[in-house]
Amino acid sequence: ETGRRPLMAGNWKMNLNHLEAIALVQKLAFSLTEQQLNDVEVVVLPPFVDIRSVQTLVDGDKLLIGYGAQDLSPHPSGAYTGDISGGMLAKLGCQYVVVGHSERRQYHREDDALVNAKVKAALANGIAPILCVGEGLEVREAGEHVGYTLAQLDAGLEKVKTDEVEKIVIAYEPVWAIGTGKVATPQDAQEVIGAIRTRLAEKYTGGTADRIRILYGGSVKHDNVAAIIEQPDIDGALVGGASIDAEGFVRICRLGK
Ligand code: G3P
Repeated sequence: ETGRRPLMAGNWKMNLNHLEAIALVQKLAFSLTEQQLNDVEVVVLPPFVDIRSVQTLVDGDKLLIGYGAQDLSPHPSGAYTGDISGGMLAKLGCQYVVVGHSERRQYHREDDALVNAKVKAALANGIAPILCVGEGLEVREAGEHVGYTLAQLDAGLEKVKTDEVEKIVIAYEPVWAIGTGKVATPQDAQEVIGAIRTRLAEKYTGGTADRIRILYGGSVKHDNVAAIIEQPDIDGALVGGASIDAEGFVRICRLGK
């Protein structure tokens, strides 16, 4: 027993409009029992334009489902056309925000310094960052996946203090396993996630490291989630493709049952 409550977070990516968002959240709430929603923390991460609708539904029906965003600006406000601030997300009741997803690192050229600034912007607004780290295929094949991922972790957490770091969720998402159907073996995921926890203990304290939740992401489905979550250091999953299908995500939230 780790004392860490499992977290299943659905990263919808650029899928579902606000009406489809409402329909999906309603289905999740209807399909999962109160007990299941207490045992496992269930969170959806819709596109920005859906969040207000999700907030209205969750507040109105007092649903035990959390929600957050997929990105935020490192700046509090100002002339940043198209960007969304942490303050705006906090006002919408977002509890989480994804930071440093590999798709943003790749398609929007986000570097470690920007990812670190976003982590701090989220924390400054009382939102828990879900900090994504993970290596690409070449790094994995060269056998450098642990060192590479820990370097990303160090950079993302630069100057984040002990009292703040416990709010952060880390997501290990090996890039070669995202959307490819190639899931890392539970042992591969545990190897890196165990190393992440050890590094957190070195950087902060053992107790702090024990309380931080670390997720695996990359082709998680209802039929592989149980073996992944069984690993000692893996506290849940960041789910992409399988999170926009109500039935599939419900089964994932039931830990494969
Ligand atoms: O953030 C979740 C993610 O990148 C994994 O996506 O579609 O492989 O579950 P998917």
